[in-house]
Amino acid sequence: MIEGHFIVMEGIDGSGTTTHCALLGDRLTAKGLPVHTTREPSDGPVGVLIRQILTGRVVVPGHRGTHAPSWAMMATLFAADRLDHLEAEIVPNLTDGVSILCDRYDYSSVAYQTVSSGGGAEAARWVRELNRRARRPDLTLVLDVDPEVAAGRRGSRSGSPEIYETDVMQVELAAFYSTIDELFPDDRIRHIDANRDIEGVAEAIWTEVAALRGESP
Ligand code: TYD
Repeated sequence: MIEGHFIVMEGIDGSGTTTHCALLGDRLTAKGLPVHTTREPSDGPVGVLIRQILTGRVVVPGHRGTHAPSWAMMATLFAADRLDHLEAEIVPNLTDGVSILCDRYDYSSVAYQTVSSGGGAEAARWVRELNRRARRPDLTLVLDVDPEVAAGRRGSRSGSPEIYETDVMQVELAAFYSTIDELFPDDRIRHIDANRDIEGVAEAIWTEVAALRGESP
């Protein structure tokens, strides 16, 4: 059995990772290729807990006022969720010949947790080390978008913003993502200009996926 491809979509909040995972999934399915679309935080037990924390829904017993989770605690939870996600969902599908499209992976941990730590190189190294046992993707697509464009897209979403969705942090994240390849020198990372319309971005993504599959687009 030939294993499926493991493809990751990354970028700041509002860059379009969820939309483009879904579109790419539809396009591969239309070609008759088995594909499973998934996301991190995952829908497993640790991922569900993380989503509660991100939206401020965790009540601290016996504690008055709000508690802001530390970047190190969040990095640890995201790393645990990732290993659970790999074991329960990603690796079994790949082994069965099903390709995985994953909305965010450990690049998000290195970007978000490092930036929320204050941005030091030591934090980035530690987060990478925490994720050392995370299988490497075959292709990572980073959707590069101007923070103002992404803020406009986030503004039209329903629901309250998550803890990382501040304009200041998103500007730092966009800068971090633009050079993230330096921290993952062995990965196949491709940057996509995501300031364009959806069709233009989808075509650029398709070109990279076709190249991975050894086809012309
Ligand atoms: P997001 O894709 O925005 O989920 P949704 O669109 O369903 O709300 O992901 C949730 C947030 O979690 C996002 O702001 C990025 C952040 N995040 C990290 O900080 N570290 C990580 O390792 C991952 C996977 C996500």
